[in-house]
Amino acid sequence: MTRRLRVALGAGILLLGIAAVALLLQSRGPGLAEARAFYASQPEMLRPRPYARVPAGLPDLRAETCGGCHTEIYAEWRVSTHARAWLDDAQFQAELHKNDGVSGRDAGWICVNCHTPLENQLEELVVGLEDGHLGRPRRIKNPNYDPLLQLEAITCAACHVGEDGVVLGPYGAANAAHAVRKAPELLTSTACTICHQAEAYFPDAEIGCAFNTAGELAEGPYRGRTCQSCHMPEVWRPLVAGKPARVTRRHWFGGSLIPKRPSDEAGLVPVRAHYPSGVALTWSGSLTGVVAGASTELTFSATNEHAGHAVPTGDPERYLLLRAEVRDAQGALLAEREERIGSVYQWKPLKVLSDNRLRPRESRSYTIKFQAPPKGEVVLLLRASKFRLSPENLAYHHLEGQAVAGRVYFEETRRVPIEAQ
Ligand code: HEC
Ligand code: HEC
Ligand code: HEC
Ligand code: HEC
Ligand code: HEC
Repeated sequence: MTRRLRVALGAGILLLGIAAVALLLQSRGPGLAEARAFYASQPEMLRPRPYARVPAGLPDLRAETCGGCHTEIYAEWRVSTHARAWLDDAQFQAELHKNDGVSGRDAGWICVNCHTPLENQLEELVVGLEDGHLGRPRRIKNPNYDPLLQLEAITCAACHVGEDGVVLGPYGAANAAHAVRKAPELLTSTACTICHQAEAYFPDAEIGCAFNTAGELAEGPYRGRTCQSCHMPEVWRPLVAGKPARVTRRHWFGGSLIPKRPSDEAGLVPVRAHYPSGVALTWSGSLTGVVAGASTELTFSATNEHAGHAVPTGDPERYLLLRAEVRDAQGALLAEREERIGSVYQWKPLKVLSDNRLRPRESRSYTIKFQAPPKGEVVLLLRASKFRLSPENLAYHHLEGQAVAGRVYFEETRRVPIEAQ
């Protein structure tokens, strides 16, 4: 070894040593304790999930590691929106960066607590607020930040690993490859509502959250049902190859099943067979009796048949578009009707301007009027689409090609013969 190399190596080791001591001081230091005390003083929706310790028997917390044994559950979670709540969600990233301190508002620390929920997933932690202002956080670097875990968004450990480094499960089986504890809260809606029930408006940060899914469930005919009963369908299978089969639950967390990115579509096609859409669209009554030349009125109805809560629920930007068309045999449009189902919010100050969402099992009828042609037939079209955000907002945020606004989930054409007068 040359002398120069030895000196360089020595300096390198010294620097590494200093860095290690600094890191140790920081991880034990007042910063982390201060951040934890700050979060503890905040309402639940402004807190990350506590730091999760790696369970005995596992090398790390990564979903991919869990997936090495829990292959099917991992493959299901991979295509879920939960796995796409961070970099794969271009709309989320665009909105997060709008909160990055531009216009004096630095409120992104609130968003990351639900979209990358574990303390381990946060690059920075908040230790306090300037003048108590939610848009002016004082931050420190998180000494326990795990950048790979952050990429997994709502990862397995966010729901399954506690502060004590034990895997939380529905059975509390003794023969797992890792420490396990029975966690009754996984069997109740609480496992979901910690993020999905959030109604608050923080005027200083200009941030509002209007999720009342659990409230809608509690008020309606499905009260008493859990979110899991619909969103995690049961399936009989082993948890790990070679183990006996058990009652387990799917981890697709299917909802609207609108892909996040255009490239996610293929992965969702097979999943749709397991989840009905919420609102069904149908013509009412018998469709015979369209009389030649007569002024005619037909009725169609939209019914929230399958959701335990309002449709749409959650994000107030979501809406349905219902469309009916009547055409003659040559395809000329005789009548059309389009209805938007959703809510409209004003954010500054917060006010619900309108809300015509369909509550569970609620049905609504619409009429469409036209002059019947003298002979032949009429062609009736019914179409239902659902949207995460409007195509106009998609364009406004320059998200074309990166995000998907919505999808058509139902389309039906019927031909009705014209009866002579
Ligand atoms: C209390 C937890 C929580 C916080 C805090 C939070 N979100 Fe969300 N976010 C959710 C949940 C739950 C959903 C899913 C609801 C839905 O899709 O209807 C969601 C969905 C979204 C979506 C996708 C909407 C869609 O319909 O596809 C975007 C974009 C988003 N959030 C942005 C943000 C931004 C920006 C912030 C911070 C200003 C933020 N979120 C803070 C829980 C949270
Ligand atoms: C080396 C293989 C292996 C890895 C890696 C692994 N598990 Fe497991 N896990 C098992 C086995 C084996 C069982 C018990 C299966 C049985 O008894 O049917 C189990 C059981 C479970 C259970 C059920 C617990 C209960 O209530 O009894 C959960 C939840 C779970 N694992 C989650 C995880 C998570 C989350 C990860 C990653 C952080 C993970 N596992 C990583 C092998 C593994
Ligand atoms: C740690 C916070 C968190 C927890 C816990 C959580 N979710 Fe979510 N969930 C989210 C966020 C954030 C999104 C939206 C992600 C996005 O669009 O970027 C979401 C999206 C969804 C969607 C919408 C899917 C779609 O694309 O339309 C459904 C359905 C859902 N979650 C069901 C559940 C259920 C059921 C549970 C409980 C077993 C649960 N979630 C627990 C944060 C959470
Ligand atoms: C949003 C929360 C959430 C996420 C993320 C999540 N799980 Fe689960 N998981 C649950 C809930 C809730 C149950 C219990 C369902 C029941 O039995 O009612 C469960 C059950 C399980 C079980 C027991 C068998 C079963 O299906 O009931 C295993 C094993 C498991 N999860 C592994 C994983 C793995 C591995 C990942 C990541 C690839 C993961 N989970 C991600 C909420 C989650
Ligand atoms: C009786 C079954 C049922 C129950 C119970 C239920 N859901 Fe849903 N949920 C649905 C259906 C069906 C959809 C699909 C709606 C659609 O067509 O987009 C849905 C959609 C969603 C969506 C996506 C937003 C949307 O409007 O599509 C979220 C988020 C969601 N549910 C969360 C929850 C949470 C959280 C709970 C528990 C508090 C819950 N759900 C309970 C059936 C149910």
